[in-house]
Parts: sequence; structure tokens; C-alpha cells
Amino acid sequence: MAGSGNAHLRPRDEVLLRVEDLVVEFPAGRAGRTVSAVAGVSFDLRRGETLGIVGESGCGKSSAARALVQLPPPRSGSVLLDGQELTALRGEALRRTRRRLQMIFQDPISSLNPRRRVRDIVGEGPRVWQLPGDRVDEVLEAVGLDPGTAAERRPHEFSGGQCQRISIARALILEPEVVICDEPVSALDVSVQAQILNLLEDLKARYRLTLVFIAHDLAVVKNVSDRVMVMYLGKVCELAPGGDLISRPAHPYTRALIASIPSSARPAETLITGEPPSPVDPPSGCRFRTRCPRATDRCSLEEPQIRQIGEDHWLACHNPAPNH
Ligand SMILES: Nc1ncnc2c1ncn2[C@@H]1O[C@H](COP(=O)(O)OP(=O)(O)OP(=O)(O)O)[C@@H](O)[C@H]1O
Ligand code: SF4
Ligand SMILES: [Mg+2]
Repeated sequence: MAGSGNAHLRPRDEVLLRVEDLVVEFPAGRAGRTVSAVAGVSFDLRRGETLGIVGESGCGKSSAARALVQLPPPRSGSVLLDGQELTALRGEALRRTRRRLQMIFQDPISSLNPRRRVRDIVGEGPRVWQLPGDRVDEVLEAVGLDPGTAAERRPHEFSGGQCQRISIARALILEPEVVICDEPVSALDVSVQAQILNLLEDLKARYRLTLVFIAHDLAVVKNVSDRVMVMYLGKVCELAPGGDLISRPAHPYTRALIASIPSSARPAETLITGEPPSPVDPPSGCRFRTRCPRATDRCSLEEPQIRQIGEDHWLACHNPAPNH
């Protein structure tokens, strides 16, 4: 984590992707101003885990995810895949390495070319990458589609959930090690969401994938993730195994997210209201301080650094909740 030198790793965990001090900024319209979308985010992705990333709209989840695959590259920071620095790669070397990290997006229908047949959509990657053999039927079957009937159809003939299966097949055929799922079920009917989540779980085991799972809904993230990282306005607030995070949340923002889950036993006074501040002009010190019920003077003067508060439990807050 930021400033920790990633000391939060347990020795038995193999790091597949190490992210250090990731910064993503966008021009903000007026000359010289910037949107601070991701402001120094660090974490390790361990081989074989599912890391959930959660936080409200605009907190930088997608910007961070895209920076991992260098689309576009971050303003600064380091992204190491198996020890190889992705931010230093260019051209063919970057292209080749990028195949190992695939993304799945929220809106499957718009990400599929409507004029092409599923066989061509899914088979395009291997042609471009010159991968041997035709595995289209195998991956269609793996994502729960009947190759015999599905392959010759076009995207509009499928439901939203089936289109998401097609996008997953399109990613899977490139034999990625990491699949970054950016709100993969948010646009789907509730009845279909569980099917797609189960599918991702099955594929993870079958193809030995490592997953990053992004959502704004903690209730969804906690069920599918080994560890959960909570983000607020471009910063990491807390990172812990899902069970720990839910049972012993330390950051006031995490507590608010938990309190907003309908079945939560957390008291409603931990809820926060209103909109987050603009990332063009973020608050000094702790970025959460303008909405934090526990804020003190120190919070506006000094940015809280990530520190370890339990086994594999990390927190950035000067004044955490009393159960810690
Ligand atoms: N291409 C862009 N140009 C300018 N600003 C951008 C761009 N992409 C994202 N932003 C801004 O960066 C911030 C982070 O956006 P991002 O899409 O990463 O958030 P998010 O957590 O994925 O949100 P959501 O849950 O709505 O998908 C937001 O303030 C957003 O408006
Ligand atoms: S550092 Fe201060 S403002 Fe930020 S979350 Fe902790 S108590 Fe709240
Ligand atoms: Mg997003």
C-alpha cells in the first residue's frame, strides 16, 4: 500500500500484479486544471484470488482498472506483472503483454459489433494474436452457450446475460491470466446476475484465473471476492478479506457502505448522505473528511497513510471506528 512498501503481503501469497502509487488524471476543461481520478493507489493482486474493488460512482474504479492494462497508461506509478513493468512497455512488447490482462465491461451489448456473427467476434482475438488452433466452440461451451446454435448468430439475437457470456468468451479465448471485470453484472436483470457471477467463479477455477471484480455495490462484491478494496475519491480507504471487512469495518466510509446494504445490522447513523466533492478540487488531508462523521482538525491537515491494523487488514484513517 502507499508508503508501506507492500509489506502487507503474507509470505505464502504469490503476487501476480503489483500496483504502486498509481496516479490517473484527466484534463478538466479549463486550462491547467485536472481531474484527480486515481490519486496514489497501491495494492497487490495475488495469483488465483478475486480482489473486489468497491466505491461509489466516480471514485476512480474504472480509471484504475484501465490504467492496469495501460489504456491509457497512468500519469505515474508502477504496474508490475510478474515483475515486469508494464508502464515502461511500448509497441509490440506492450501489445503482447496486454493479452495476459483482459477486461470485461458493464454493457455487453454495446461492446459487441452488431454486424458480426458470434463465431467471428469470439474468433477475432486469436486471429489478431496469431494464437494456434480454433477454440471458439470450446470457449462458447465454457461460458454456457451452445456452439452449434450460438456461433452463427449476431449479438441482437441474444439477451443481455447471453451477450455478457459472449464477451467473457471473447476474453477467455486469449488465455488471460488476469480478468478485470468492470461492473460485469450491473446492467443485467437481478435474476441473471447470479448466473453470471457463478459462471465467473466456475471459469476462474477451470482456467486458473485471477480476477479483479469492480462494483459500486458492496453486497455484490463481498460475495465474490477474497479480499475487498474500498475506494473513495481516488484513494484506498481500507483493504481486507471480505469477511473481516464486513464484520470489523474500521473506516467510516466502509461502515457507511455496509450500513447502506438493506440487510445490514449496522446502525443507520453511520450512513452518509450527499455527493462526494469534485475530484478537480479534492479536500485537503483526508479526502473523505467533508462527509465523515468522525473528522477532526487533523483530518484536514494531514493525509492518512495506509497502515496495517490486523492480519491482512489495512486502513487509511486517523480516527477509526471504536471496534478497532
Ligand atoms: N476520459 C475522462 N475524461 C475526464 N474525466 C474522466 C474521464 N474518465 C473518468 N473521468 C472522471 O474521473 C473520475 C473517476 O471516474 P471513473 O469512471 O474511474 O469512476 P468509477 O468509480 O468507475 O465510477 P462508476 O461507478 O460511475 O463507473 C470521475 O470524476 C470521472 O468523471
Ligand atoms: S482520516 Fe479523519 S476524515 Fe478521514 S476517514 Fe478518518 S476520521 Fe474521517
Ligand atoms: Mg466505472
